Amino acid sequence: MVKSKVYIKAQEFVGDPTEENFKVIEEEVDDNLEDDEILTEALCISPDPYRRVFPTPVGGGFRAFQVSKVLKSKNAQYPEGSKVLQEIGWRTISKSKGEAVWYRCDDLPTNEPVSVATGALGMPGVTAHYGLTNFCNPKAGETVMVSGAAGAVGSMVGQIAKILGCRVIGSCGSDEKVRFTKSLGYDAVFNYKTQDWKTALKEAAPNGIDCYFDNVCWRQKSAVIEQMNVGGRIGVCGAVSTYNSTDVPQGWCFIKKCDSFVIALYLF
Ligand SMILES: NC(=O)c1ccc[n+]([C@@H]2O[C@H](COP(=O)([O-])OP(=O)(O)OC[C@H]3O[C@@H](n4cnc5c(N)ncnc54)[C@H](OP(=O)(O)O)[C@@H]3O)[C@@H](O)[C@H]2O)c1
Repeated sequence: MVKSKVYIKAQEFVGDPTEENFKVIEEEVDDNLEDDEILTEALCISPDPYRRVFPTPVGGGFRAFQVSKVLKSKNAQYPEGSKVLQEIGWRTISKSKGEAVWYRCDDLPTNEPVSVATGALGMPGVTAHYGLTNFCNPKAGETVMVSGAAGAVGSMVGQIAKILGCRVIGSCGSDEKVRFTKSLGYDAVFNYKTQDWKTALKEAAPNGIDCYFDNVCWRQKSAVIEQMNVGGRIGVCGAVSTYNSTDVPQGWCFIKKCDSFVIALYLF
């Protein structure tokens, strides 16, 4: 038997999460493996914000991606010593038949931390690429606006949009994040906590916005919509501003009714 530390939900969330919502318990894991089983140890765990709205019962464990090292194996696909990206939760030691594995990640770039597999080379990177190219479908020369621009998803969206030849603008919540996103190639970024949305958007997108990749669903979405060009596309990736909210339903998005033009809005 080996011991695993497991985060469980100790109390229902009300508003912002606090320490009281979480508890770490020890679980015994039988390390005698049957055919196809692997025993893994977490190297890094990603507490992604969207998990906040996933239904997790009190006493239950949180699902999450982790990069893990295979400690023991009876599965030829994942030999001892290999590394895997798997969606198996906030826990140190896990036993499975590899059903939660996304991919083997032994060949990660050596100049990057292994956490890159939970970010750019994991679910956030896939979300950014899929959402931008399949729903917003930006063309070279168009202007793409990204909220939550400095986050795991937003920072990738901005870089992909630049590669596609777009003008890329974004919003984020601190001057440090503004500097960070600009270092990634964003053409204009504003701090929504210190700047007025309408004024900042007019300055950043004088020719209007063609694609809006929305991660936060702020009420200020209406300011973006007013700045959008005819034929504009909005990809609603997430609603992080509502996840801890007690006055609007989680995942709720404010869309101001606008009669002057048609906007294609995609939720993914
Ligand atoms: N559709 C999908 O398949 C999918 C997959 C993955 C993620 N998502 C969604 O994508 C979004 C971003 O995820 P991520 O992994 O990139 O998150 P992240 O790296 O953790 O970034 C989240 C950022 O959101 C901003 N934020 C937090 N609370 C906020 C609030 N109350 N109002 C406004 N902004 C707030 C903060 O940035 P600032 O300091 O800049 O405000 C925070 O750093 C989330 O909405 C998530 O649910 C969707």
